Amino acid sequence: MANRTYYIAGNWKMHKTRAEAAELAGALVAGLRNGKHKYLVAPSFTSLETVGPIIRGTNIALGAQNMAAEEQGAHTGEVSVLQLKDLGVQTVILGHSERRHVYKEDDALINKKVKLALKHGLEVILCVGELLEEREAGRAEAVCETQTVKGLEGVSPGDLSGIVIAYEPVWAIGTGKTATPEDADAIHAWVRGVIGRLYGGGAAEKIIIQYGGSVKPDNAAQLMAKENIDGALVGGAALKADTFVPIAAFN
Ligand code: 13P
Repeated sequence: MANRTYYIAGNWKMHKTRAEAAELAGALVAGLRNGKHKYLVAPSFTSLETVGPIIRGTNIALGAQNMAAEEQGAHTGEVSVLQLKDLGVQTVILGHSERRHVYKEDDALINKKVKLALKHGLEVILCVGELLEEREAGRAEAVCETQTVKGLEGVSPGDLSGIVIAYEPVWAIGTGKTATPEDADAIHAWVRGVIGRLYGGGAAEKIIIQYGGSVKPDNAAQLMAKENIDGALVGGAALKADTFVPIAAFN
């Protein structure tokens, strides 16, 4: 994986009360104290204020799972970048497949959010990934390419350092089906090539591309061993220290 630093992130999705989130955060701080990689947890909005102080000053950063496309205003039920920053959030996950496919966020909306997050100095984990029918139709590369290009439209070369890409094939999310390390690596290489065309070879070499989709302690190391896989975005297995720590601490 060249000179890139592995980056392992836990997306807690819509799980955990504040007390449960605090317990998990505390266990992760202890379990990852000697971890060599870069780490992030993304709790629900409701637990950000609880988890923030527990992980502050450790090797685990605080992430949010989404944000509004506007800074503030009449947007009932939305959460703004200013509110996230106020809670100490450093990173925001954007374009997650659940946002794209369940909540119908399109590339234009996701792009607007990406630019707003970067403007406010947040790191962005931009998720891309194909549906099963798109893979079966041989369109996985094209779908991920389009989502990458449109997601990054208007992002300057200088701002690209604030971008992490997460390849999450939709058919592998929460299903127990993982892409083979070879299949995942092929898409990562493809996306890296897209970054190269947009921003040049140096940028392509540097960008972190995480894999997400049923990452577990028993498959993490094989995935991470691939040249173009630079980390993981973990859902189900991120909900327990017993499963997240072994993934995050892989050698
Ligand atoms: P699972 O690890 O539960 O498949 O979820 C992956 C994911 O969507 C992380 O964002």
